[in-house]
Amino acid sequence: MTSLLILNGPNLNLLGTRQPEVYGKTTLAEVEAMCVDKAKACGCSVTCLQSNHEGELVDTIQAARGTYDGIVLNAGAYTHTSVALMDAIASVDVPVVELHLSNIHAREEFRHKSYIAPVAVGQICGFGPDGYSLAMDALLSYLGHAQ
Ligand code: DQA
Repeated sequence: MTSLLILNGPNLNLLGTRQPEVYGKTTLAEVEAMCVDKAKACGCSVTCLQSNHEGELVDTIQAARGTYDGIVLNAGAYTHTSVALMDAIASVDVPVVELHLSNIHAREEFRHKSYIAPVAVGQICGFGPDGYSLAMDALLSYLGHAQ
């Protein structure tokens, strides 16, 4: 069975109450429940993890090799700063779809730069919580997972 990891980075544990005008009112628990439902509907398995710590995200990406077929990654602010996350993704043979709730290209200039984009299969941003489902579809399609 195709196995996906939904990996959320810093401050995404605060979804629902964090800047709702930007990120909406859906909580991370609700997003993760949507991902679990989506996985059931698609006949794949999903694991959801969140960390506020860059090194823990690096460890998780390294450990994904041989465990998961693909990763949906919302790296939060580390998207714009982390060479370590970029190197981790480049070092494991696990496809990553980059995901953001907000349209990072329509926001402050520092958010336009992504260290994840060059090592990701592609990027989905600007669709709010629906983006997670879209990113799972994109990853499953990339993996050639029959639905
Ligand atoms: C985010 C966008 C980032 O710029 C920001 O730092 C986040 C959330 C998003 O999902 O829109 O933490 O990744």
